[in-house]
Order: sequence, then structure tokens, then C-alpha cells
Amino acid sequence: MSFPNHRPRRLRTTPAMRRLTAENRLAPADLILPAFIREGLTEPSPISSMPGVVQHTTESLKRAAAEAVELGVGGIMLFGVPEVRDAQGTASLDPEGVLNKAIRDVKAEVGDDLVIMGDVCLDEFTDHGHCGVLDSEGYVDNDATLEIYGRMAVAQAEAGAHVLGPSGMMDGQIAVIRQALEESGHKNTAVLAYAAKYASAFYGPFREAVDSQLKGDRRTYQMDAANRREAILEVELDLEEGADMVMVKPAMSYLDILADVAAMSPVPVSAYQISGEYAMIEAAAANGWIDRRGAITESVLGIKRAGADTVLTYWASELAGWLKES
Ligand code: PBG
Repeated sequence: MSFPNHRPRRLRTTPAMRRLTAENRLAPADLILPAFIREGLTEPSPISSMPGVVQHTTESLKRAAAEAVELGVGGIMLFGVPEVRDAQGTASLDPEGVLNKAIRDVKAEVGDDLVIMGDVCLDEFTDHGHCGVLDSEGYVDNDATLEIYGRMAVAQAEAGAHVLGPSGMMDGQIAVIRQALEESGHKNTAVLAYAAKYASAFYGPFREAVDSQLKGDRRTYQMDAANRREAILEVELDLEEGADMVMVKPAMSYLDILADVAAMSPVPVSAYQISGEYAMIEAAAANGWIDRRGAITESVLGIKRAGADTVLTYWASELAGWLKES
């Protein structure tokens, strides 16, 4: 053989050659669009730290869901922002509450053409902003919270959610939700477990998106950024409890975790490209510092390459449109 050997570069010579030999591809069906609906809005309200993302009205949410179907997006994950909050997050259980109603409205709009997912967590509904209820010392009470999650899950399943996404990182949440679903006759409602969810500074813009009341942090229930092996334990526990899919979150600073989980998980793996990851790229692009479309595409492809089967991203519909045209 003569040297240098140009074997690697031969496969990069033309766009068609690169396309043919690509190891990973993005497809609209892999993407899940997270969407916010806020009670009492008369028109969509922009989220300043997430340019291009809004808090929806019922009408604009239905349009966004219909557009996602049109573009071939795989699913939608719904978050509700209620008008009234209390210590127990009571509005999360009301069948007419903002999130349960949104699930019903989206279901009426798109039926089974899009996988409809609901966030099962109390942080949007509590007046203290924690993902669970508090004990007398202000510590998030795991088991008292579980009882509410079970009822929330049933309310969302009744509203028509195909998948529930418990994001609160309470121990035992998957088991309790699974049992509540079975007992209420929702045996086909699936659970996407936020299994390895880290306490992250990159959630910042989300707090604006859901008008979060949180003072302090979630470090007593979300994972510590220093830990890698522990993610496997979290995933194993959720699988034992009956998780149908598992998630790693955030995505971009946790690609090692994603690769580890993808290597061991027998069920589909999701990754959530979160609000701060979105905001960073949008901010740099708005300043002309990076190519927006290139950076978005590369970031999501990187998450896929690391092992995600599906990616939750605020760019889901826009990216799906690009994928369709290319
Ligand atoms: C909690 C929840 C959070 C996100 C999704 N679900 C916030 C948190 O844990 O503080 C963050 C999503 C994002 O930042 O895009 N219900």
C-alpha cells in the first residue's frame, strides 16, 4: 500500500458520499417538542430568555401541535403554568387545570398522530416552586409527594396523554405512577422516566418559562453534576419500577452519561436539550458569533450520536422542517 493512506478522506469527498457514509442521521420522528401553556393568556407570550419560544394560549398550542404533525415531529411534551398556586400544587389534579386541559385540547386536535406527553411534576403548581411538597423543616417530602404524583398521573392519563414524564426525581416515582395507572385502567399509558436528571445551572431560562417561584435549588433531589456511576443506579431503579423509556437531562454537558445509559438500557433512551442549552446557542447566533443552523443541527446530532434515540429540543419543529427540505 502506498502512503499516506487516504482511506478516511475518500469518504468525505462529496456531499453525496458523506451522506451515504454517515453513521448517524437525524429524523423528524426522533424529535420531541417541549411546549408551555399558560392559563389565562389571550395571546402567546414570548419568553425573553428563550427567543423564539412562547408561553402558548390554547389556540396557539393547538396550532403548534398541528404544525409538529405536519413536519413529522415524533412527540410533544406539555408543561402547564397555572394562574393559582398553593403549597400542595392542587391545580395539578384538577381535570380542568391548565395542563390536564391542554392535554385534552391537543389530543382533540391531533389525536394519535403525535405522541402526547405530560410533565408529571409539582414545580409549576406549587407556590414555593419545589418539585414536591415540603415537610415542617422545608425539606421536600418524598413519600407525601409520591401520593400526589400518582393522582396527577391518572388525571393526565384520563385527559388522553400517551406518555407521562415524571421529572421530579422522587425515589419510587415510577413504581407509584405505574401502579396508579394500572389501578385506574390505564394500562397502555407509558412512562418516560426522567431517570438521570442533574441539578443544573442550565435550567435558568425554564424557570422564566414556567414563572417559577423557586428560591434556592433542587440539590437534595436532583443528581450531582460530579456523579457518573450513580446515573446507572438511577436508570436501573427506574427500569425495575417499570419505566418504558428513560431520559438523561441535561444533554450537552452530560454526553458521557448518555453514552453510558445508551450502552446498558434495554428501553429507548431520550435526552433533553434544555432551556439553557437553547439559550446559549440562540444568544451566540444573535450576536453573529456562530452559524445558527449549523450549530443547532450539530448540537442535536451530537446528542443522537452519543446514544439518544429521541431528543427533546425546543428546535424540534424548525429542525424537522430543515430535515424535510434537505
Ligand atoms: C421540572 C422540570 C424542569 C425542566 C423540565 N422539567 C426544571 C427543573 O428541574 O428545575 C427544565 C427544562 C429546561 O430547562 O428546558 N418540572
